[in-house]
Amino acid sequence: MIEPVRPDPTVMVIFGAGGDLTWRKLVPALYSLFVDGHLPDRMQILGLDRRPMDDRAFRERLRDGVTRFARLGREPGAKWDEFAARLSFVCGDFTGAACHAELSRRIDEAGSQWGGACNRIYYFAVPPEMVAALATELGAAGLTGERERTRVVVEKPFGWDLASARALNQTLSRVFDESQIYRIDHYLGKETVQNILAFRFANALFEPIWDQRYIDHVQITVAEAEGVGHRGGYYETAGALRDMIQSHLVQVLCLVAMEPPVAFDADEIRNRKSDVLHAVRPIPMDRIHEFVARGQYGSGWIEGEKEIGYREEDGVDLHSFVETFVALKLFVDNWRWQGVPFYLRTGKRLPAKATEVCIRFRPAPHRSFPAAAVGDWPPNQLVLQIQPDEGIRLRFQAKRPGLQLRLASADMRFSYRGTFQGEPPEAYETLLLDVMLGDATLFKRIDQVEAGWKVVDPILDAWRATTPEDFPNYRAGTWGPEAAELLIAQDGRTWTLPVAASE
Ligand code: BG6
Repeated sequence: MIEPVRPDPTVMVIFGAGGDLTWRKLVPALYSLFVDGHLPDRMQILGLDRRPMDDRAFRERLRDGVTRFARLGREPGAKWDEFAARLSFVCGDFTGAACHAELSRRIDEAGSQWGGACNRIYYFAVPPEMVAALATELGAAGLTGERERTRVVVEKPFGWDLASARALNQTLSRVFDESQIYRIDHYLGKETVQNILAFRFANALFEPIWDQRYIDHVQITVAEAEGVGHRGGYYETAGALRDMIQSHLVQVLCLVAMEPPVAFDADEIRNRKSDVLHAVRPIPMDRIHEFVARGQYGSGWIEGEKEIGYREEDGVDLHSFVETFVALKLFVDNWRWQGVPFYLRTGKRLPAKATEVCIRFRPAPHRSFPAAAVGDWPPNQLVLQIQPDEGIRLRFQAKRPGLQLRLASADMRFSYRGTFQGEPPEAYETLLLDVMLGDATLFKRIDQVEAGWKVVDPILDAWRATTPEDFPNYRAGTWGPEAAELLIAQDGRTWTLPVAASE
């Protein structure tokens, strides 16, 4: 049996611990890590929030979150009591000297009881506009601790455009060294996203054909059936381009397009990903409609339920022009990918939840079969199913059984659940453990964040200058606006229906 990896003793301070993220994601993930034996024996999780609560109320709220959301939390029982002893709460907004002193006292108390080296992790689960101020306060209060042992975790969005991302990075770097900053993108913690690297670089089979000679184009789809729900206020300031493309889809693009790393260490992987972003061809501003389509959902039907339109959601302006759908065509200007379009699309209130990468290969170079035998003879297609039904599907041509020669498409399928039994860890489990271990491979470095903004900044500028008069332009429960179909149809191609939506 492989022994679970265990980090050194750790004090984790969660700012904004009364919020949704702590309840829904962070503590459920920490709890599952605890049950699986990955948390250090000596660990304290200290929550800080303006909401008035004592330790007992804090623990009760988190127990509820663990029961609902933790992978291993269905019946917390005795394990919960053991875990809950590690949780405590400080009420405050971290702006006054009294709060600084209390936090410092609690951290020292935990550390001094244990003796020896201790990690100190600050998790900023706070609204984005508070991040810079919080970092500055930590610095001013002298709480930044030893560089090797102190880490800060920052949630997306990292800024609202290139200029604000740079300003935020500058503020953070006045207080912390880049090696201490862990910019989290939960997509990078997903097992199937990590598996893109394993699939490409642990097999000799696919890498030799992974380039413009064999690949016609790539599609990356992140479709959600959900609307914006209770996050209308946030979404009004973000939109799909910032919320999804700039962060998650661009990261998936990097993993699909990057060159093989020499070694699996944090800097090497992140360098190779940065190379991709630097090679992305800037979108020509005067032809932006050939490269980008935006949409906003109106009311419609999903699985027999009537859904309201975006403008009717809580916290959303009745005349909002914020996009809930984006389709985008990018080129990566390097030797490997010259001329291969990468089509990215994401949207809310689409017919199904499905995240997939579809690699469409070029057609067979010579048509040796008689026309009557082949039908439409589609080229090979490889689909990496990121979620749900995690797996891989390779579509190829086969001879249909029978006395006559007839070809038909067939699939080779790999299913995670079928092959590796058990539930995979949640993205936050992987990422939180990596922070405690000091492994930054799955986190975004400053240059990647800025390069990501460089890709989308011109689009934001162009959109600011024109109002989308046709919003809402797609019905809930459909695959987005007509402009998205045109975007790919102008190149003589079509969007692939995600596997999750076709079965
Ligand atoms: C978040 C976005 O980062 O990712 C949300 O802010 C989105 O708008 C979510 O719904 C999607 O994540 P997942 O893991 O459900 O695909």
